[in-house]
Amino acid sequence: MNFQSKLPNVGTTIFTVMSQLATEHSAINLGQGFPDFNPAPELLDYVTQAMRDGHNQYPPMPGIGLLREEIARKVKNLYGHSYDADSEITVTSGATEALMASIMAFVKAGDEVIVIEPFYDLYIPAIKLAGGVPVIVPMRAPTESQPLYQIDWQQVRAAITIKTRLIMLNYPHNPTGVVLEESDLDALESIVNDTGVMLLSDEVYEHIIFDGKKHHSLAGRAALAARSIVISSFGKTYHTTGWKVGYFCAPKSISAEIRKVHQFMVFTVSSPMQFALAQYLKNPKPYLELAAFYQTKRDRLSEALKRTRFKPLPSQGTFFLLADYSAISNKPEADFAHWLTVEHGVTVIPMSAFYEDPTAKESNHNLVRFCFAKQDHTLDSAAEKLSRI
Ligand SMILES: Cc1ncc(COP(=O)(O)O)c(C=O)c1O
Repeated sequence: MNFQSKLPNVGTTIFTVMSQLATEHSAINLGQGFPDFNPAPELLDYVTQAMRDGHNQYPPMPGIGLLREEIARKVKNLYGHSYDADSEITVTSGATEALMASIMAFVKAGDEVIVIEPFYDLYIPAIKLAGGVPVIVPMRAPTESQPLYQIDWQQVRAAITIKTRLIMLNYPHNPTGVVLEESDLDALESIVNDTGVMLLSDEVYEHIIFDGKKHHSLAGRAALAARSIVISSFGKTYHTTGWKVGYFCAPKSISAEIRKVHQFMVFTVSSPMQFALAQYLKNPKPYLELAAFYQTKRDRLSEALKRTRFKPLPSQGTFFLLADYSAISNKPEADFAHWLTVEHGVTVIPMSAFYEDPTAKESNHNLVRFCFAKQDHTLDSAAEKLSRI
């Protein structure tokens, strides 16, 4: 068949490639971002119970009311914004579907969408599928004196044109582990004020933020919330990435448009999972204690890396940390990640994979991403292997 690919530059994602390589070489996989441990037994019991109670048929299109009400309560308690559970909260098939449906609903052919680089792999293909034009604003890469990636809001401001439809944000940020400060929200507010630009805020790591810092959701500022689609995922919060349940919160008129896409993309989301999550979400303890749980793991991996020739960078949030391998090799990041799997049995993700052109010199900083959502013995075994390099 002759046809023209709509996504000619998209192949198998780096996460799949590296995970396959890890399996082939029996390497410890600290690459792809998923926990290697189970969710709470209580949550699993709720799923079984929901199935036995007969919740096995199509739930309502925007998600079951019980879950939407619990999400509304959580968001109100944490960020102070009241979303209407009926018309402003929608349960989706993971954050992935919420992102794709939002872009499909709002980006028209030729519309520009500002994306901060490095970025999560879905953003650019989603914009292109919608006919939009990604406008990439690079973060400043870390240096010896400034070990965190930094966004330059002046560059974001300069990237806005008459065609800008959306700015995509992701905090806490995968892959860099940086978080938003109050001053970032001030900058953002002044940039979008008096424009028609909408904000798509991917906050799937909202509960994984360290060292006493607080997550600044875009839902927490009325002026930003009015133009924002705020997305989260139960996969990251409850160690259930395989369930693919997430949600978005947005003002009524915005939500209505995204629901039009959602209803024809998936229509609705697994019923027993929704009932179980609604029940489990009543107790704030699991999501409030998540940061401390992951901070211990971050520290365990970071301390272990300090005893190797890797140099770990600070991670303020997410379950990822970056490490510099300049003392080991000058290979481009993808080659280094391949070598590390094959020769040393530890799989990581090259940072360049989160750049538009992974092979460009500007996309390679001798950095790789480690995922620490792993059992302690997995982290220890990986560290042991790395210490031998
Ligand atoms: C930044 C970011 N957004 C979205 C997702 C996708 O979330 P979900 O698995 O809920 O679709 C991920 C998953 O790794 C992510 O890291």
